[in-house]
Amino acid sequence: MIGGVAERDDGRRALDPIRDEIDELCRAATAEVRRRADAFWEDYDRDRDAAKLAAWFVPRCWREIDYVFMLGEEIRRYGMRFERKHVTALARQLHDEAEHYDAVGRIIERLGGEVPTEPPPSAVRWSAFLWESLERHPLGAIAAWNMSETAATGTLEGIVDAGRRYELPDVARIYEGIIKDEKFHVGLGRVMLDRYADGGDDLAEVRRAMAGMAEIVVSSHVALDLPL
Ligand SMILES: [Fe+2]
Ligand SMILES: [Fe+2]
Repeated sequence: MIGGVAERDDGRRALDPIRDEIDELCRAATAEVRRRADAFWEDYDRDRDAAKLAAWFVPRCWREIDYVFMLGEEIRRYGMRFERKHVTALARQLHDEAEHYDAVGRIIERLGGEVPTEPPPSAVRWSAFLWESLERHPLGAIAAWNMSETAATGTLEGIVDAGRRYELPDVARIYEGIIKDEKFHVGLGRVMLDRYADGGDDLAEVRRAMAGMAEIVVSSHVALDLPL
């Protein structure tokens, strides 16, 4: 990845004592999110409602801009604990997420929806948990968003396929770019957890953040915020 940052170039593997456990959490959350996303597209196949499709993208769009805010706060609050190359990598992720917010926002506008400027109902719990994790520990938010981004990969290929199937070329093109960026983000999160977790207390915080987020993403990553 970029400058080797997302590779395990320092040989530290602090997550080893909990790696099997968190890998299994990631696998189960990703599979469940994928199953629910597939069900959404089956439903869309029966009823191609642009408003419903716009609503599908609204919580996704919010998560992009909330990552921008959180990455900025992570760097401001904890950045001096990390090596400079990792601060640079987090800043690059921040820039990617800002581009994702803009791009997914354009999809929503083209479908006639409104780009979120505050957490939509389905993202409130997700957002609160991330900010709480950021507050608790320097690795808390990184662990929580690593789980969230890993689980979200269960929907990305399906979005690209649907974009092609339903002749939504902007959707396919934008999400192809997002898939590439997410590989970097997910790798970076794991590298940072392996590099900076130090001892049982840190691992307990990482485990807490990942298990809590695994439970939240299963419901929040497939929710629709339809206007009543
Ligand atoms: Fe993103
Ligand atoms: Fe991301």
